[in-house]
Amino acid sequence: MKKNNPTEQFTLFPTDTELKDFKEDSIFEGIELVSFRELVPEISDTGYLTHAIYAYPAKFIPQIVRYAINTYTKEGDWIVDPFAGSGTVGVEAYLCKRNAVLLDLNLLLNHIMPLKVYRGKEILSEASLSKLLADMQESNEQFTPAWSNVDYWYAPEILEVLSQYWGFINRTDGGIYAAIIKAALLKASKRFSYTEDRTPKLARSKRKLNAIEALLKENWREQLDEMVQNLSLKTLRDLNDFVVYTRQHHAEDLGQIEFHGGVDSSDVAVPRVCDTLITSPPYLQAQEYIRSTKMDLFWLGHTEAEVQALSRLEIPYRKADRVIQTRTLNKVRETLTRDDLRKRLDSYFCHTVNALENSMNQLKPNAAACIFVGNPRIDGITVEIWRILVEYFTERGWTFEKVYEDRIKTRKLFGARKNKNPDGMKSEFLLILRKNAIDQTAAPPRGSLPQDTESLAPAPKTSPDSDAS
Ligand SMILES: C[S@@+](CC[C@H](N)C(=O)[O-])C[C@H]1O[C@@H](n2cnc3c(N)ncnc32)[C@H](O)[C@@H]1O
Repeated sequence: MKKNNPTEQFTLFPTDTELKDFKEDSIFEGIELVSFRELVPEISDTGYLTHAIYAYPAKFIPQIVRYAINTYTKEGDWIVDPFAGSGTVGVEAYLCKRNAVLLDLNLLLNHIMPLKVYRGKEILSEASLSKLLADMQESNEQFTPAWSNVDYWYAPEILEVLSQYWGFINRTDGGIYAAIIKAALLKASKRFSYTEDRTPKLARSKRKLNAIEALLKENWREQLDEMVQNLSLKTLRDLNDFVVYTRQHHAEDLGQIEFHGGVDSSDVAVPRVCDTLITSPPYLQAQEYIRSTKMDLFWLGHTEAEVQALSRLEIPYRKADRVIQTRTLNKVRETLTRDDLRKRLDSYFCHTVNALENSMNQLKPNAAACIFVGNPRIDGITVEIWRILVEYFTERGWTFEKVYEDRIKTRKLFGARKNKNPDGMKSEFLLILRKNAIDQTAAPPRGSLPQDTESLAPAPKTSPDSDAS
């Protein structure tokens, strides 16, 4: 491999010259080509039950999580996910009678989980939902998000109506019905703004400006109301399906789902001993999750200061405090010619490994860690994240068990935007590491969950029986 040749493509997986090396590598023996969708035929729809309530960037497909749960956990186990995002692991854990502790930097987790893991046992009433929607349309309360730029994103007349609806819904104690309407209002607040609907980050486009201008000449308010009503009804029906499912399958043995949004997983200890880790870390060429979801966070009542503080902690957009060294990672680092990319690489592995280590330290001896990663390219170089993690963790008392390779067909990265090859990835990998029978983990313990600092780490929550407001 030559250094300083940016045009040369460097793959750490077999190229002609590397094939011999690669075949002799014992890790190669552990790769199993699979299709998780085919392995889990009982899930035919990735958005089944409550999975589709919130469109989060780079969500797990539930089949991967279900496969890991079926294969590496048993009923009653505790599963930890330090990069929980929109809580796919929480939903699947609950449906499979496992417990879960979920952490994520994004505060949205705290708003999403009570809806997605709804604990009520009674069928929700469409009439009660309609009544609350009607009250909202009649109300005169106002809520303006604590967002200095808000006027830039909305036509004034639309902002006024949205502020009225949010004013009512943020103050009402309408419990689960208010939470259902909030989820619908989030989607409508994006659709009726100047941002493109289908890109993750906020992007004010000429196309969207024209579309809103045209809308304002029509019956836009009726269209807004209809959208909120239809989305709310759809969510209510999903929740009712969830209630029916859990009634049929669970009897009384419901699992516990703890969630901690607004937490930097690379800097806190997981609050309990767990049996298995199932997670998908952020991408290396990352989505900026906080920036992508900030419109939602503002409408939900979070402030600019909170959102900025969280953005600064996002992986891989912060400084590394140590340099992770492994054979494969060192090769990538040496081959990169751009300093900014080397810094991003170092930041990514430093904080991703710190977060994984914090959770993995809390696993019992013999526990499995199931880590779902891609094979991104950075400046034309393929970065085999799973292999780097194997090299790092096998030096620290973990055993490499296997890696599943799932070839990507079509993956929805965000909303309806289909991306056949996100991040330059052709495959995704589920890496399985096994903790040794005697815990030899050498890493020093990190800080504990700051439960009393409300803005960054709300107190631990367990999905309530019926109240999600
Ligand atoms: C690939 S997404 C996880 C999506 C999740 N599996 C799901 O199904 O919704 C990665 C997550 O890592 C989170 N993240 C980024 N930096 C973090 C940090 N320092 N601590 C905790 N979470 C972080 C992002 O907010 C994002 O939700």
